[in-house]
Amino acid sequence: MPICYHENTRTFHLYNGDVSYLMQVLSNGQMGQLYFGKKLRDREDFSYLVRTEERAMNSYTSEDRKKRLSLQQVRQEYPSYGTSDFRSPAFEIQWEDGSRVSDFCYASHVIFKGKRKLEGLPAVYVEEDGEADTLEITLADRREGARLILSYTIFRDYGVLARSVRIVAGERGCRLERVMSLNLDLPDSDFVSVQLSGAWARERYVRERRLEEGLQGVYSMRGASSSEHNPFLALRRPDAGEGSGEVYAVSLIYSGNHLELADVDQNHVTRLLAGIHPDTFSWKLEPGEAFQSPEAVLVYTDRGLNGMSGIFHGLYRTRLRRGFWRDRACPIIINNWETTGCDFTEEKILELADTAKSLGVEMLVLDDGWFGDRENDRTGLGDWYVTNFQKLPHGIAGLAEKVKERGLRFGLWFEPEMVNKDSRLFREHPDWILQVEGRFASPGRNQHVLDFSRQEVVDYIYDAMEKVLGSADISYIKWDMNRYITECGSAAYPADRQGELFHRYILGVYSLYERLNARFPEILFESCSSGGSRFDPGLLYYAGQTWTSDNTDAVERVRIQYGTSYVYPLCSMGAHVSDVPNQQSGRITSMATRSNVAHFGVFGYQMNLTAVTDSEKEEIRRQIAWEKEHRELIRCGRFYRLRDPFRENTGAWLVVSEDRREALVGYYQIYREVNTGWDFLKLEGLDPDRLYSVNGGVQVSYGDELMNLGILLDQERFGIAKEDYASVILHIKAV
Ligand code: DGJ
Repeated sequence: MPICYHENTRTFHLYNGDVSYLMQVLSNGQMGQLYFGKKLRDREDFSYLVRTEERAMNSYTSEDRKKRLSLQQVRQEYPSYGTSDFRSPAFEIQWEDGSRVSDFCYASHVIFKGKRKLEGLPAVYVEEDGEADTLEITLADRREGARLILSYTIFRDYGVLARSVRIVAGERGCRLERVMSLNLDLPDSDFVSVQLSGAWARERYVRERRLEEGLQGVYSMRGASSSEHNPFLALRRPDAGEGSGEVYAVSLIYSGNHLELADVDQNHVTRLLAGIHPDTFSWKLEPGEAFQSPEAVLVYTDRGLNGMSGIFHGLYRTRLRRGFWRDRACPIIINNWETTGCDFTEEKILELADTAKSLGVEMLVLDDGWFGDRENDRTGLGDWYVTNFQKLPHGIAGLAEKVKERGLRFGLWFEPEMVNKDSRLFREHPDWILQVEGRFASPGRNQHVLDFSRQEVVDYIYDAMEKVLGSADISYIKWDMNRYITECGSAAYPADRQGELFHRYILGVYSLYERLNARFPEILFESCSSGGSRFDPGLLYYAGQTWTSDNTDAVERVRIQYGTSYVYPLCSMGAHVSDVPNQQSGRITSMATRSNVAHFGVFGYQMNLTAVTDSEKEEIRRQIAWEKEHRELIRCGRFYRLRDPFRENTGAWLVVSEDRREALVGYYQIYREVNTGWDFLKLEGLDPDRLYSVNGGVQVSYGDELMNLGILLDQERFGIAKEDYASVILHIKAV
C-alpha cells in the first residue's frame, strides 16, 4: 500500500487495493484535499481537482489574480477559520496577541513503514511494519513558528485511514481552542447521514437524515462518549443499502466529549469533522510544548453498510483490542446483579456458583456491593476493600478461592472513577471530586466524580485496586461508570487550565487502565457505563469488551445489538440471558429467544439460576453447550445485517466463517403475523458454488440460491413458535 509523493505537482497519493486518498500542496502553501474514495490509478497530476474560479462574495489568498485562490472554494486538508474560508474549521488557536488567524503551510514530510504509538491515547496498531504505511506532513505557521503534524496511516488489508494531529507551539505559547482529529471535504452533499443515537437502555439506535446546507451531526458534552450519541458518523449515498453503495464513515477512538459534524456549504461541499468537542475544550501550550489529538478512523467502501461494518469489525477486533484475551473467547459468565443487587451474602453467591457450574457456566462475576458500607447506591463507592464481614466473611480472596474450588473463574465489579459522599475516601479527601468552588456539586446516582486529572487521585485508586487484584485470584473486572460529569473544575489547576479538565480526566482514566493492563495482563476487562453509555473504540483498546446495555430485554436487545454492530464486532458486545418479566421492560420472552439474541455477543447469564425449573435447567445446559460449540465462529466470523428491526417487524443477522463453510443466522420476529405472504430471507457472504444444508437438511441449497433467492422462512419447517417474540437460529453448513 504505497504512499507516493510526486515532487513536480507536490501531490500525495495514499492507496491500497480498495481506496485512494489524494492531497496537494496549494499555491498558497497550505494543504488541499483532492479525493478520497475508490482506488485510482496513480499518476503525477490531479491539479484539475483544485477549483480556482472566482465567485461573488469570496475573498482570496493573493492580490495576484493568476496565483490566487479562495479557501472557501477549495477542499482543504486541515482548514482554519478567519481568512477566506467561512466554514467550520478543523482547528482554532489563540496566539499570544489575542488573534486567531493562522497560516500553516507545508514544510516537510516523512513516510515510513508501520505506525507510531500515540502517547497516552488509544489507537489502532500494527503487529508487523508491513501491515501499514504512515505519512506525517509537517506544516509550519510562518509568523509563530508553531508546527502542525498531520498523520495518516493506510492499512494494507482495510479500506481505512487512521488520522490524527499533533500541534507543537513555537517560541511563544498559545491556546488551543479546537483541535479536530480529522477533516474531510467531499465534493457534493448527496448523502444520508447515519448516526447511532439513543439514551440509557436504548443505546445506539440507528438514525438517518438527508444532508442539507448547514450543520448536522452528533456530540457529547457529558464527559463520556455517551449513550446519547456514539462517536461515529457515516455518510451513505441515498441508494446505498446494506449490501452495496458508497459509504464514508468516521469513528473516533476516544471516550470523552466528542463532536462529529457534517457542514454542507452553499456549493454543496460536505465538510466532515470529528474530534474532541471544542465547546468543552481549551488547552494551553507553553513554548515548545505539544498536544496530541485522539485518532480518528476514516472508512470508505462501495460495498454498503455491511461493507463498512466488516472493515470496522476486522480492524477493531484485531488491531484495536489488545492483550491476552484479544484472540480468546470470554468465559461464559454468570453475573449476580439482576438477581441480588447489593443484597447478597457469600452463601448466596456460592449457591449461585454451584448451580451455574452444574449447567456449564465458566465464570462467576460478583457485581456491585462487595466493598465498604455498600448496602445500596448511597454509600461506599471509593472504599475498595471489604468491611462487611457478615456479607463476605472470607473477604474477596476467600470468596475467589471458593469459587475457584468449584471450577469457576472469578470476576469482580469496580467503579474506579466514583465516590459516594458517604464513604471513608470522601471523608478523608473531600477535595478529590470534580467541582467548582462556591458552586453546588450536582450528585448523580448519589455519587460524585473523582478528579482523575490529578495524578495523586489516579495513584490512590490504582493502589487500592492493585491491592485487591494482587491478593485474590481474579480473572475479570467489570469497570463501571454510572454518571456523567457536571461542574468540571479542579482545585489542582490554575484558572487558565480549567478548560483542559475534561480531556485530562479521560487521559487519567486511560492511564489507570494502562497500568492495570500492564500489571495484570491476564485479567479480562469489560467496560460498562450504566450499560452502554461509554461503548466506544477508545475503551476497547484497554477493555476488549463492553456491557452493551442495562436493557436485557430480548426484543430491545435485537435493536441495540443491531445498531451497535454498525461499528463494533460481536466479540466486544456483552450480552446476557436474564430473568423474565424483564427488569427494564417488564416484557416476557421465551428462554429460547433470550438466548438466541445473547448468542450474538459475548454470551452469559444474569439470572437467578438457583430458582429455575428442572426443564429450564436442561434448556440452559443445551444453550451453554451450543455456545461452546459455536463461539469461535461467532467471535471471528464475518457479520452481516440482513433485516432491520428499526424498520420491520423482524430482525435478522448472519455470521459466516472465514472459509465460508459454515454460518449462523439469527432471525427474530417481534409480533406474530398471521396469514402473511411468502417470507424469503436472503443471506450474504456464502460461497455461491457450494452446497449448504440448513438446520441439518431442512433445506439443502447452493450458496447462490441462499443469497439470491433466500431461505423460505416457513414457520413450521423451522419450528418458529406461534407467538410474539419468536425467534430461531439457522445453522448453515457446507455438505
Ligand atoms: C450499572 C451496570 O450497567 C449494571 O450492570 C450494574 O453493574 C450496576 N451498574 C451496578 O451498580
